[in-house]
Amino acid sequence: SHATSYRAWLQYTFITSTTYREQVMSLLKEMECLNGSDISESIEQEWTFAIRKMIGFQPAVVPEVKGNGLRIVYVDSMEKEAFHIKNEDGIQILAGGEAGALYAVFTLLRHIQRQGDLHSLNMKEKPANPLRIINHWDNMDGSVERGYAGESMFYRDDSFRENIVRWKDYARLLASVGINAVSINNVNVHKVESYLITERYLKDVARVADIFRAYGIRLLLSINYASPMEVGGLTHADPLEEDVAAFWKQAFDDVYQAIPDFLGVVVKADSENRPGPFTYGRTHAEGANMLADAIAPHNGIVIWRCFVYDCHQDWRDRTTDRARAAYDHFMPLDGAFKDNVILQIKNGPMDFQVREPVSPLIGALKQTNVIVEFQLAQEYLGQQRHAVYLLPQWKEILNFDTGHEGEGTFVKDIASGKTYNPTHSGIAAVGNLGDDYNWTGHTLAQVNLYGYGRLTWDPTLNEDDILSEWSDLTFGQEEHIQQLLEAILLPSWLTYERYTSPLGIGWMINPGHHYGPNIDGYEYDAWGTYHFADRNGLGVDRTVETGTGYTSQYAEQNAKIYNDPNTCPEELLLFFHHMPYNYELTSGKTIIQHIYDTHFEGVKGVESMVANWEALEGKIDDKRFSDVLERLKHQLSHAIEWRDIINTYFYRKSGIKDIHQRKIYE
Ligand code: GCU
Repeated sequence: SHATSYRAWLQYTFITSTTYREQVMSLLKEMECLNGSDISESIEQEWTFAIRKMIGFQPAVVPEVKGNGLRIVYVDSMEKEAFHIKNEDGIQILAGGEAGALYAVFTLLRHIQRQGDLHSLNMKEKPANPLRIINHWDNMDGSVERGYAGESMFYRDDSFRENIVRWKDYARLLASVGINAVSINNVNVHKVESYLITERYLKDVARVADIFRAYGIRLLLSINYASPMEVGGLTHADPLEEDVAAFWKQAFDDVYQAIPDFLGVVVKADSENRPGPFTYGRTHAEGANMLADAIAPHNGIVIWRCFVYDCHQDWRDRTTDRARAAYDHFMPLDGAFKDNVILQIKNGPMDFQVREPVSPLIGALKQTNVIVEFQLAQEYLGQQRHAVYLLPQWKEILNFDTGHEGEGTFVKDIASGKTYNPTHSGIAAVGNLGDDYNWTGHTLAQVNLYGYGRLTWDPTLNEDDILSEWSDLTFGQEEHIQQLLEAILLPSWLTYERYTSPLGIGWMINPGHHYGPNIDGYEYDAWGTYHFADRNGLGVDRTVETGTGYTSQYAEQNAKIYNDPNTCPEELLLFFHHMPYNYELTSGKTIIQHIYDTHFEGVKGVESMVANWEALEGKIDDKRFSDVLERLKHQLSHAIEWRDIINTYFYRKSGIKDIHQRKIYE
């Protein structure tokens, strides 16, 4: 039944070393059976399936293991998702609960696939982040908003697909890297999807929940704030009116009737033209708290997104700054939200650009539950046609010191709950999946899903180790393959940054679909995403003295650093400052020369990605080899397009020549 996961990291390949296989056979010839719950069944299935594929024998599941074998023991004093794998009177998994045991089994299987030592086993783990979420942006017509991997695996033609094997394989992939919650519909909830919380679809939603439950994953739905009108026939959706509260109470009663362990709802309100409490003069807190009260009897949560800004801006208006918006909206409400509301904050203040500062809201909110939101879907990062390994970016973000509780107030500790000890916390990411044979369109984009899970489980893991795990499991444990994949992927984020928009400015892409260079695409529009390039320079002045004052939203130390072009990290210089082309960077290069150089280097970087991949010919299967090669070649031609358009644009604006006299079209 595990057919479709073949082309990802759970394919489990036969281990050719006889010595290792014999060791596994003798140490793990049987497994002690569990209590028959859904998760227990998954554990037994995963274990026997994987061992058979890797080692070539079917371990017996027996009532009692005597001597060598695998035993799972539940320990009340451990946290539910925690485990300890050790070799003591046979191989034992101590776990706080079934989810912990499941994670332990996946961890042990990964260890075996990589031929790890079994005698001195001692792996003690628990997830850093309580909530580890994937947000799908799937629509019920089968499309996926910002989806680059085929159609939705959940829906088609306004119905649920009969895709149970796929859903199960998906749940397996997610559980194997520790994801414990998934929202299955787009944050933009349109007409049909508004009915997901009603009788029309609840049976189907429950089917998905059943499959996920067996892998320790809880379900979320995105809801439409105007459902009382759209679905309930009311004339308004004012959160302070009783009929609205009654509508939601009933709706949640129905949902929990169908899915007793439903986790909760995701809400995009008053954001990009979606309905919300503003229509009725109510605050986000009033809007969210009403839902929170309605779902509280079922112990549900309300995840309220902070992606709120004015998308009807006027470029002539230099006082409004989109980057400020989330903080300006939500900071005054710190402490006003109910305990089962969680604010979900995008990692940066804009929208998943290749380079942004960390959102100033993260860490500033001290009395509010918070989740940090990443984007696996490479909306602005080459849309899964370009290979971009996102872990280096996420590591940087998670390791950022917000300074809100003095030195060392890292984003990773705010997300995990360590800093403020909130009731709920964690990390969410927009998924990068669809029904393509390889799940993610670009096979190399699988590493971002894998890495996202591993990193949210343990933010101290580094991107190199995560990459080598993934490469071993996905392409086999050959050193040469791994080295080539490292050469391709480790620098890929910086490479992408080099051939696209420079020094933190972002956005120079085509409006709407967000693919490909278009430097002035957003320059005179309503979305608040400007670069202000003129003949002297470019960048957005966000300083306190002469700009939008955005820098003041950071804790003092960071505010100071960002506010001054001499201390501002250079990769973000143009995010915070409007600078002349001839301003000299620490490298000794002027900004204009930096733009030229990075764009030539970026293309070179992609050339070596192609060459490194070509060296893998014959080492991996033809299909994945040729599919990835095709995408890398596209990436190369596209990087050239970026390079030439950016370089020409800034040459024409500035009139300053490349000191190396390379080809810049005039
Ligand atoms: C981006 C993206 C939208 C999405 C939005 C969001 O603006 O382009 O497609 O709906 O983010 O996160 O809500």
